[in-house]
Parts: sequence; structure tokens; C-alpha cells
Amino acid sequence: MEGAPTAQTAQSGQWRETINLDELWEGDMTSVTVEGETVLLMNVGGQVRAYANTCPHQAGPLDEGDFDGETLICSRHLWEFDADTGCGINPDNARLTVFGCKVGDDGTIWVDTGR
Ligand code: FES
Repeated sequence: MEGAPTAQTAQSGQWRETINLDELWEGDMTSVTVEGETVLLMNVGGQVRAYANTCPHQAGPLDEGDFDGETLICSRHLWEFDADTGCGINPDNARLTVFGCKVGDDGTIWVDTGR
């Protein structure tokens, strides 16, 4: 879609160790604290995604929402997001804050919040 806003990934090159992939099964989500920031970790079809845990609408905690393995629904006012991309489904111009995320050979999930 030309002209559509895209999710931006905040990265500083400062990777922080979080939990192990063993603790985040496919279709699960959890929150962790990284450098004072609450980060939402999601396992989307075997790929880990990291987002700010704050809803772009009115800052509701996204870890209290519903996640069916593909779509995240904020518990506050039911905004919907594509968990794979962080892009809004309803409304479609909303965007989650995306953090850098990678999984080490030992399953450790590393996050870069841009700080
Ligand atoms: S705070 Fe998330 S939908 Fe309103």
C-alpha cells in the first residue's frame, strides 16, 4: 500500500537478555521489563516479536489483551493489531511500537528497546 504508514523498529544495538523461548510457546504472549520498559513478547507462528506493552490508543497494557496466535486485541477498547507486524487491523492506521528482537542458539530471547 503506497503511502501507508509502516511500523518502525526502535534499535540501538544494545541487546538485553530476557526469557528463554521455552517459556513462550507458540501462540503465547508475556511481558518482561527491559531497561525500565515493559516489553510485550509474542510468539507468532514460531517467530518471536517484541513490542512496547502500551496500546497506541490510550496506553492500555497490551499484555491484558487477547491473543489468538495471529491477532492481538487490546482489552480496553478492543483495538486490533496484526501480531506479526504490529500494524493495526482496526483501526488500520494504528501502529504498535516495534522493538528489535532475536533468539539465540540456546533459545534466549534478546531485545533491543532502542535505549
Ligand atoms: S487503550 Fe487500547 S484500545 Fe483503547
